[in-house]
Amino acid sequence: MFSKETYINRRNTLKENVVSGLILLMGNDETPMNYTDNTFRYRQDSSFLYYLGIDLHHLAAIIDVDANKTILFGNDLSVEYIVWMGAQPTMRELADKTGAEETQPYNNIATYLKNAQSKNQPIHFLPPYRTENMLKLEEWLGIPVKDLKNKTSKELIHAVIAQRSIKSDEEIKEMEHAVAITKEMHVSVMRATKAGRKEFNLAGIAKGIAKGCGGDLAYGIIMTVNGQTLHNHYHGNTLESGQIVLGDFGAENGMHYAGDITRTFPVDKTFTQKQKEIYQIVLDAEVNAIESLKPGVQYKTTHLQAGKNMAEGLKSLGLMHGDMDEAVAVGAHALFFPHGLGHMIGLDVHDMEDLGEDLVGYREGLERSSQFGLRSLRLGKELEAGYVITVEPGLYFIPELIDLWQSENKFSEFLNYDKINTYRDFGGIRIEDNILITEDGYRILGPAIPKTIAEVEAERNR
Ligand code: GLY
Ligand code: MN
Repeated sequence: MFSKETYINRRNTLKENVVSGLILLMGNDETPMNYTDNTFRYRQDSSFLYYLGIDLHHLAAIIDVDANKTILFGNDLSVEYIVWMGAQPTMRELADKTGAEETQPYNNIATYLKNAQSKNQPIHFLPPYRTENMLKLEEWLGIPVKDLKNKTSKELIHAVIAQRSIKSDEEIKEMEHAVAITKEMHVSVMRATKAGRKEFNLAGIAKGIAKGCGGDLAYGIIMTVNGQTLHNHYHGNTLESGQIVLGDFGAENGMHYAGDITRTFPVDKTFTQKQKEIYQIVLDAEVNAIESLKPGVQYKTTHLQAGKNMAEGLKSLGLMHGDMDEAVAVGAHALFFPHGLGHMIGLDVHDMEDLGEDLVGYREGLERSSQFGLRSLRLGKELEAGYVITVEPGLYFIPELIDLWQSENKFSEFLNYDKINTYRDFGGIRIEDNILITEDGYRILGPAIPKTIAEVEAERNR
């Protein structure tokens, strides 16, 4: 945990922005995997972590704005529980760590909320994403599960997003740490790669390092020779000479801050010429995008510029033709680049996505596009100092998409299908870094991770 002052200050800021009523923050429970006592890896809710910092299950908190106090709801553990799980801090000790004024048994929360309802005090809550929390809200507030989404507090959601979007110095330190662990994962995987090994051998190495550094994975590992499948979580393929591996994985450090790094590298010690050409196009787009970052830059513009840069590169290889400004405007390049350039990152790898992707990444007057490719851009709005974002351009050859578009003769004024079909078995290349927006520009978080062709090949030859 950070010091209790951090959490007190964060809650005070929140109280300034949510002017009256109660703010209900739900912690997460343990979730059974196949029976009650065999649970999925426990993960506390990120907003609960942000405002309370306590990484234990079966807790909830009310920030009572009207009474100017925070109440932590939870139960002191019985000796029976301690026999199995060991001694745990008392509720009072936990409350002291986070600077909460009061503790009450967990089941008291229903009465506290009913009392507030009877006095017509507004009860602000965030969108629940776990079924057990939805059921609790239904029981405590009398709102049917199907109506909960409409009853969430827009005031609270906006206040939390505004606050969590700007990372403090102590958060940046944690994020640097997460990326440093992530570097070890990537470098170790590059060094261990060899024809004949399985993707899951590499995934195991990455996961082992994340856990061995006191954290865990920030999201499901993408480690695949089929990088053209964007979120490919299958790890059963055998690595073959001539293939490239796309590794998109990151650590969540012990304080639960995420790293999200992608590197693509050859199974052999060197890339083929064809792989080098595509790799360099993606790399140039990534570096160019990063170098353009500063407060005030609209990320949608950066996304479109990266798309244009890659389209120009593809044109130079004969895969596209015509005017690349026009091609990008209609979305023809999305055949190769069907996802967004990046997203916010913090306690969540897609930071605050539970609060509403568009509320985090867009603003009034800047709506998300419905165009294929551009519609997958999670972050479109202007950047501010203190944001941490990913930059992750990629180029992919997806046979099913190529076939569909070709059968429709789609964008043939920009796409050279004969040439494209000679890349059908190419796979995909993505390169991703995590970037802090500073007052006058940007800083790439963490230590340098092999990225140029020469650096990646040097790592493969170590
Ligand atoms: N790292 C996976 C993603 O950004 O969606
Ligand atoms: Mn990412």
